[in-house]
Amino acid sequence: MNIVVTGGAGFIGSNFIYYMLENRPKDKIICFDKLTYAGNMATLDEAVKNENFKFIRGDIADRKTVYHMFETEKPDVIVNFAAESHVDRSIENPEIFLQTNVIGTSVLLDACRKYGIDRYHQVSTDEVYGDLPLDRPDLFFTEKTNLHTSSPYSASKASADLLVMAYHRTYKVPTTISRCSNNYGPFHFPEKLIPLMIINALGNKKLPVYGDGLNVRDWLYVEDHCAAINLILQNGKVGEVYNIGGHNEKANIDVVKTILKQLGKGEDMIEYVTDRKGHDRRYAIDPTKIHEELGWLPATKFEDGIKATIQWYLDNRKWWEEIISGEYQDYYERMYEKNPALEYARV
Ligand code: NAD
Ligand code: DAU
Repeated sequence: MNIVVTGGAGFIGSNFIYYMLENRPKDKIICFDKLTYAGNMATLDEAVKNENFKFIRGDIADRKTVYHMFETEKPDVIVNFAAESHVDRSIENPEIFLQTNVIGTSVLLDACRKYGIDRYHQVSTDEVYGDLPLDRPDLFFTEKTNLHTSSPYSASKASADLLVMAYHRTYKVPTTISRCSNNYGPFHFPEKLIPLMIINALGNKKLPVYGDGLNVRDWLYVEDHCAAINLILQNGKVGEVYNIGGHNEKANIDVVKTILKQLGKGEDMIEYVTDRKGHDRRYAIDPTKIHEELGWLPATKFEDGIKATIQWYLDNRKWWEEIISGEYQDYYERMYEKNPALEYARV
């Protein structure tokens, strides 16, 4: 099978590529990524050594490049991770979120209609359901929960989900959607809570906690997310939505304190700062459907996953130091532009 992974140079997409190269060695994995600030070729250094892997630089919202990719690669499966993913950036400037997350998804779906596809999988988020109150721990997001978005990011992701469902119903594109809770693990871009806190603590910088620090996120180790998507590709029902989450709810302040404790640093490094606008209070996924239909359960406990993640950041300083210095942004040109095994579609 030819499996195109869009956004595969980012956090979850790259982990998914490594998961698939290891677990589906007969398939060809093609990464299609624009390499925005969040995409990093250094993340794919090991993948490019694998003969089952190919990288193409391109923008999912660029119809010409996407159609060309369909003509040359003849994908059987598309897994769409490509997105602007950071809520704070969407609050600063929503437009690029609409361009990539909504228009980009529509271009991929049009290509699926035009050229045919065995499966189009949309990687979505629990943020499309809005948030839950802190005083109702009995409430969870199910696949039937209404879409009720808070940020321009979540609104763009919900819009993309609606388009996916519309293309399934109207044009019979064989789609599936997964809505996952917060991921953590290797290759997480240092603007997000967990890597930011690890890196700031290592650099003896303040750890900025928004608002009262009591907002709750439902954390899932990234490899568990990858395994769930692979199961959906194999046995998921076309036209369906699957929630993914591991009942691992933690208040932000507790996550931050855990990181400080693991690194042997004091809580005086915590600084409470102005809250995020429209800040969602609590996310909590009910994963009953994916468990009962597909047999998925998360394998990694938060206590183990957070230790492994902190260790990864200690062992891979070069990876994040190049991000902080900005050096990674010309890495592709330096390392790969002249490599004929990699295709370069200028964006
Ligand atoms: P990320 O920001 O780390 O990576 C996004 C990747 O997409 C980057 O490699 C970037 O270069 C690429 N990209 C951006 N715009 C593109 C475009 N126009 N064309 C092609 N490539 C483009 O994001 P992530 O955290 O890995 O999230 C991946 C997906 O999973 C997103 O769709 C996100 O909404 C979803 N998701 C993320 C989480 C999470 O906790 N991070 C949880 C649930 C769902
Ligand atoms: O729930 C899934 C979503 O999780 C994904 O769809 C998004 O792509 C992903 O970025 C993530 O969104 P969050 O907004 O939950 O993640 P973030 O790491 O930005 O923030 C986690 C929590 O920590 C949130 O309540 C805000 C808070 N926070 C974040 C940062 C960056 C802080 O208190 N301080 C910070 O500096």
